[in-house]
Amino acid sequence: MAQQLSPADRAKFAAARRAVDCVEDGMKLGLGTGSTAAWMVRCLAERAREESLRLSCVATSTRTAELARGLGLRVMSLDEAGWLDLTIDGADEFDADLTLIKGGGGALLQEKIVATASDRMIVITDASKEVRTLGAFPLPVEVIPFGAQASRLLIEELLGGLDVMGTTASLRMDGARPFVTDEGNHILDLALGRIGNPRQLSLALNQVPGVVENGLFIDICDAVVIGYPDGRVEMRDAVAGTVEQERIVFVESDNIFHDI
Ligand code: A5P
Repeated sequence: MAQQLSPADRAKFAAARRAVDCVEDGMKLGLGTGSTAAWMVRCLAERAREESLRLSCVATSTRTAELARGLGLRVMSLDEAGWLDLTIDGADEFDADLTLIKGGGGALLQEKIVATASDRMIVITDASKEVRTLGAFPLPVEVIPFGAQASRLLIEELLGGLDVMGTTASLRMDGARPFVTDEGNHILDLALGRIGNPRQLSLALNQVPGVVENGLFIDICDAVVIGYPDGRVEMRDAVAGTVEQERIVFVESDNIFHDI
C-alpha cells in the first residue's frame, strides 16, 4: 500500500513519522493543518494506540480536529489545555533561519496561536519547501470581511515601500465566493516573489486596519524534519544546533495506509 503512494506523500509520511518519535507520554500537543500534518495525525494516533500514550491534543483547524477525533485522539481547546509541550505542523516555505510561510491551507491564525503557545514547534516537510529567500509562495494574510478590499488596497500601497519584488494582493476564493477561515475571516494572498526583510514585513502588515495576522512565522519554529520519498529524513534542530539523518522504513502492514 505504501508503494502506491506518490513520491510527495512518501516524503511527507517519512517526515511525519520521524517527528512523532519526539512525542512522549503525557504530552499536550498542537496538531497542525494540511496534507503533511494529516500524515502526522495518523502516525500519532497509531503510536498512541500501540503504546497506550495519554495525550491531550489541540487542533489548529476544524478539519484536523475531525481527523484526530475520528482516529481516537483526545482533542480539547487551547484554553482547556493551557500551554502545550510540542506542536507539529507543516509549512509552505522555510529558509535557513527556520522562518516560515504558512497559511496555504487557510489555517494560519490558529496555527500561529497554537505554535506560539507551545514550548517547541517542529515543522514537517518535503524538500521542495526549502528556499534561500522566502516569497515565491504567496504570503497569506488573514483579514476581517468588513472592508476587505480597503485592507487589500492599503496592503498594496504599503508593499510599494518595502523590500519585496511584487505588490499584488488577491482575495482568496472558494469557487464564486471568498474563502472563509475557521474564524469567519478572509485571506489575501500576496504575490511578493521575494521577501527581503520578513520581520519588517510582518510588523508592517499587522499594523494595517483589518489585518488579523499574517503567515510569516518568525522565531517560532525550533526544528524542521525534511522527508524524502525513499524514507530518508533529516532533522535540523536550531535549538540544539544538530543535524541528524536516518531512514524511515515503510511497513506495508502499517494500519495508517489502510484508509488512504
Ligand atoms: C495550513 O494553513 C498551512 O499552513 C499548512 O501547514 C501548509 O499549507 C502546508 O500544507 P501541506 O502540508 O498540505 O503542504
